[in-house]
Amino acid sequence: MNQASLALIKNSIKTIPDYPKPGIMFRDVTSLMEDGEAFKMSIDLLVAHYKDRGFTKIVGTEARGFLFGAPLAVALGLGFVPVRKPGKLPRATNAQSYELEYGMDTLEIHQDAIQAGDKVLVVDDLLATGGTIDATVKLIRDLGGEVTDAAFIINLPDLGGEQRLLDLGLDVLSLCEFE
Ligand code: PRP
Ligand code: ADE
Repeated sequence: MNQASLALIKNSIKTIPDYPKPGIMFRDVTSLMEDGEAFKMSIDLLVAHYKDRGFTKIVGTEARGFLFGAPLAVALGLGFVPVRKPGKLPRATNAQSYELEYGMDTLEIHQDAIQAGDKVLVVDDLLATGGTIDATVKLIRDLGGEVTDAAFIINLPDLGGEQRLLDLGLDVLSLCEFE
């Protein structure tokens, strides 16, 4: 990938110390989205990487996964499936609990949103411990979907998420990293 484009993306992301708790360095992807050039560049790079790869659906996790997964789905001409926090999806759902960098949560998916044989690309803004995407992959695989790839804008390599997802058999792409 073009190094200047990747630098533009990384430089657009602001860091907020001690948010939402002391000791957390919060990497704020909303500052990237406020920069039209950086936002478009991030989607364009993902489109170039994932086009013509045979994906049938994109799954994004609430909330920030929606912000990148939905535009990528439109650009690739694919359906977008939201994985949401509990009680938000109106049709029958499956649920999976998981651990966050700072707390516990549960995610849900519509049971009829993934069909057996779907080839799914999972998208989120940020990879930390990998707990969110681990739970998301379980939800998709339980419905018969095949998940081979996960895409992120930001990876926090010190938190071990990339190795966790590699252990699940995923190829992982992130556009930038922060120590
Ligand atoms: C953040 C982020 C990822 C997840 C990464 O979401 O957007 O989804 O944490 O952490 P992990 O790799 O340790 O699972 P959060 O749960 O804070 O929800 P939000 O997008 O609704 O703010
Ligand atoms: N989600 C989990 N850890 C995070 C961090 N350090 N910055 C932004 N979002 C996060």
